[in-house]
Amino acid sequence: MCGIVGAVAERNVVEILLEGLKRLEYRGYDSAGVALLTGDGTINRVRRTGKVQALVDALGQQEALGSTGIAHTRWATHGGVTEANAHPHFSNERVAVVHNGIIENYQSLRENLVNQGYTFTSDTDTETIAHTVNEALKNTDSLLAAVQASVKQFHGAYGTVIMDRTDPSKLVVARSGSPLVIGLGLGENFIASDQMALLPVTRRFIFLEEGDVAEITRRSVAIFDKNGNAVEREIIESSVEHDAGDKAGYRHYMLKEIHEQPVVVRNTLQQRIDETGLLPDIFGKGADDIFARVKHVQIIACGTSYHAGMTARYWLEQYANISCNIEIASEFRYRKSVVHPDSLLVTISQSGETADTLAALRLAKELGYMASLTICNVPGSSLVRESDMAFMTRAGAEIGVASTKAFTTQLTAFLMLTLALGKHNNIAGEDQQAIIQALLNLPAKLEETLAITQGIEDLAEEFADKNHSLFLGRGDQYPIAMEGALKLKEISYIHAEAYASGELKHGPLALIDEEMPVIVVAPNNELLEKLKSNVEEVRARGGIMYVFADKDAAFASDDTMRVINVPHCDGPIAPIIYTLPLQLLSYYVALIKGTDVDQPRNLAKSVTVE
Ligand code: G6P
Repeated sequence: MCGIVGAVAERNVVEILLEGLKRLEYRGYDSAGVALLTGDGTINRVRRTGKVQALVDALGQQEALGSTGIAHTRWATHGGVTEANAHPHFSNERVAVVHNGIIENYQSLRENLVNQGYTFTSDTDTETIAHTVNEALKNTDSLLAAVQASVKQFHGAYGTVIMDRTDPSKLVVARSGSPLVIGLGLGENFIASDQMALLPVTRRFIFLEEGDVAEITRRSVAIFDKNGNAVEREIIESSVEHDAGDKAGYRHYMLKEIHEQPVVVRNTLQQRIDETGLLPDIFGKGADDIFARVKHVQIIACGTSYHAGMTARYWLEQYANISCNIEIASEFRYRKSVVHPDSLLVTISQSGETADTLAALRLAKELGYMASLTICNVPGSSLVRESDMAFMTRAGAEIGVASTKAFTTQLTAFLMLTLALGKHNNIAGEDQQAIIQALLNLPAKLEETLAITQGIEDLAEEFADKNHSLFLGRGDQYPIAMEGALKLKEISYIHAEAYASGELKHGPLALIDEEMPVIVVAPNNELLEKLKSNVEEVRARGGIMYVFADKDAAFASDDTMRVINVPHCDGPIAPIIYTLPLQLLSYYVALIKGTDVDQPRNLAKSVTVE
């Protein structure tokens, strides 16, 4: 959450900063600001509440110039959405700061700084960084030394970039908990909270590590670790697509990303599986030896990624014969848990930077898990770097805040993990073959499923005036119902709950009336007859149902039930296939309601604070 961009160059950096902010806007979008060191030795700061476009418009009114600058797009944590709380924050017109994360001890820092004579102009924790560095500059001429001294006082998570009006040649950056990446240019260097921001200007990146502080000038980058020792960090050539920030003719990123699913699932499978099964070492060298010893799997994730993990639990126990638990990262990290012998910890994350998931991984290392694997979409992210093994989903950059293609590639990855672990746990030959075939057919099935869009657009009309909805599924479709409900909540703001349909009569049945649409996911599997009984229970109470069903499942539309046929698919991939119509339903309902589909209110794409 929050996006940071900074640049030190010969040329005017305003356009670079604004383009970077636009590319990061999905991470936070309640206010934005920029600070530029001008030729006459002053700092020109412009801030606006609302989208980055408001800042662009404001800057369009003036001829903003500066070859050193910092910029920020905010997702408020401390202090409301006001211009005064937008970054960059100043101290005495000398030090300017942008910050991502939370300084947890900001209240005590603030009290001390007020006693030292500093005046606060915002309610943010970030302003304490500016004043602390300004105070440290009383003891040194070096911004770097001042930042190194200051960070010792900060508790919490931060990725911060600091600029000093008296020294326009440099930016100093510090990372603890919130990611920062340095972009290397020719005679110019950059900093950002995410490489996406800098792809128009460079492909060469250094990912800072925990505790790093770095000084960046036009021609040099000097990095110091948490103990203050000078360190070299690897330079990585990025393979992320430059134009991933483009909507490719679609009205929204979300719709583009929904339609990309056949391609990105194919990419995720490529060179990893063929007719004979998994290719060697797809989870990394040595992974198979670790998998041979695994007796239990513990999955940890948040949000949509958590739903992928819930689905995986059904698969790992059903097909791979291995016991599996799944828990939300924010719960796992704050409770005492028992580690099963020979347990593999699996984290799942689109971004690889979710604060709770990362903290859970770090805790798991202390607890003595045998090994850790992350299923992740962002190369070089913190989870990838800190896990023993990493399996990259190849969804490409996902910009829409509501996750779509990341989810289906995560599920694809989990079916491959099911094969890999099943190999050591007597997976039944016919199950193994069924999963292999289903995966090979998956991209084509996804294409076929997307072709049912039209029916769903019509259906959305019937939903848009409702305030509540209920999603039902059974078995490995229960997490898919949960994901469908989450999508609807996130982008259409309609209250949606998901239930395992067997739970219907234990409470939610009391809510059923014609104002509460019930969405049912009904593939043709062994639980179909049970699901049909649940459908009858709803019908008997006057409920209106929308059933996504295999045509062989023999559901027929009538006054109380609308049936949408989903292409027939093999059992193991059914959860992936049934995800698509639910994504489309949410999208079209949001479209009718006129909400901000790609940047829904109050949410952020990457939750890098607790
Ligand atoms: C946020 C996003 C969700 C995402 C969740 C976990 O809430 O809005 O779409 O599922 O974070 O993120 P991760 O990057 O760890 O998958």
